[in-house]
Amino acid sequence: MIQKATVIGSGVMGHGIAQVFALVGIPVHLYDLTKEKLRNAFDSINKNLDLYVKNELISPREKEQALKQIQMTTNLEESLVDSKFVIEAIPEVLQLKWDLYRSLETICTQDVIIASNTSTIPLTTLIQHSTYPERFIIAHFLNPAPLVPLVEVIKHECTSKRVIDTTMSLLKSIGKTPILLKKEIQGFVVNRIQAALLREALALIDEDIVSMEDMDKIIKDGPGFRWAFIGPIETVDFGGLDTWKRIFDILFPDLDNRQSSPEFINKLVAQNKLGSKTGEGIYPYKDTSIDDVLTERDSNFLRLLKIKAKQQIIEK
Ligand SMILES: NC(=O)c1ccc[n+]([C@@H]2O[C@H](COP(=O)([O-])OP(=O)(O)OC[C@H]3O[C@@H](n4cnc5c(N)ncnc54)[C@H](O)[C@@H]3O)[C@@H](O)[C@H]2O)c1
Repeated sequence: MIQKATVIGSGVMGHGIAQVFALVGIPVHLYDLTKEKLRNAFDSINKNLDLYVKNELISPREKEQALKQIQMTTNLEESLVDSKFVIEAIPEVLQLKWDLYRSLETICTQDVIIASNTSTIPLTTLIQHSTYPERFIIAHFLNPAPLVPLVEVIKHECTSKRVIDTTMSLLKSIGKTPILLKKEIQGFVVNRIQAALLREALALIDEDIVSMEDMDKIIKDGPGFRWAFIGPIETVDFGGLDTWKRIFDILFPDLDNRQSSPEFINKLVAQNKLGSKTGEGIYPYKDTSIDDVLTERDSNFLRLLKIKAKQQIIEK
């Protein structure tokens, strides 16, 4: 059982992962390069927990207790004291991750598990320079980390059984749904599925078949409505394999097969319109603040979590 954890990098993902540990009473060190980054992380966690209190998921006292579990530091060695599980959520830049692992491996004892929250880099690449590759694993949380239950877990043939078992039971103990992939593959499962869906969705917008607003509505009120409770494989079974076979035979040859990002996305990126983090992306967010949009998103996820928790109790 892990008694203390360390999260390295306190940005979009790191602060959320630290919050998850803190909420279940696991003391967590949160490390980043500057005090300013850590202050921002604290403000975000504080705001997230206020939303939990407002939605009556935790009491104000539980919020204060959770905040007390988080120790923030800009000193790497200090952040690793007594910690047996370290997860890094630093930028998706391979050299940065390699440099960090080199430092971690000089400071941590051999039994310390080192997990990465990478969304794309294969574990084989991450461990290329490591001294003890058997201690490395990928635990891919989804954004927002405190709210989305799934964590994809990716092992390497070197990853030890102890590391896999401990990571899986730790993730379950913090309320997550960890899924261990049988083999590693580029993009893992979630991002491959999202990319496949987005390739077609963006092509349909690009070809002016549907507006971007209607595309979002189509997914939210159509397949997305079902996906909260039945997966795509179950959907096929419930719909009838004969029907789905016809759909596959007609549509597979016709689906978009482009090999790179669509031109309108490239243009937005070149203009630094990167989405909510720069104030504008595919949508302009002109009549509402980004903060309000994200708070509404998280309130809806909290409501869904409550419904799913009730459903699980009924099924038991
Ligand atoms: N943003 C997402 O939606 C998302 C989802 C799943 C996984 N991920 C993955 O999680 C990781 C982090 O992504 P993010 O979006 O949170 O990034 P981010 O840029 O929001 O945060 C990264 C943080 O790491 C800090 N940092 C940089 N170098 C560091 C170092 N050497 N030591 C300690 N801290 C350092 C930065 O100061 C920053 O606070 C990436 O590997 C990314 O691919 C991101």
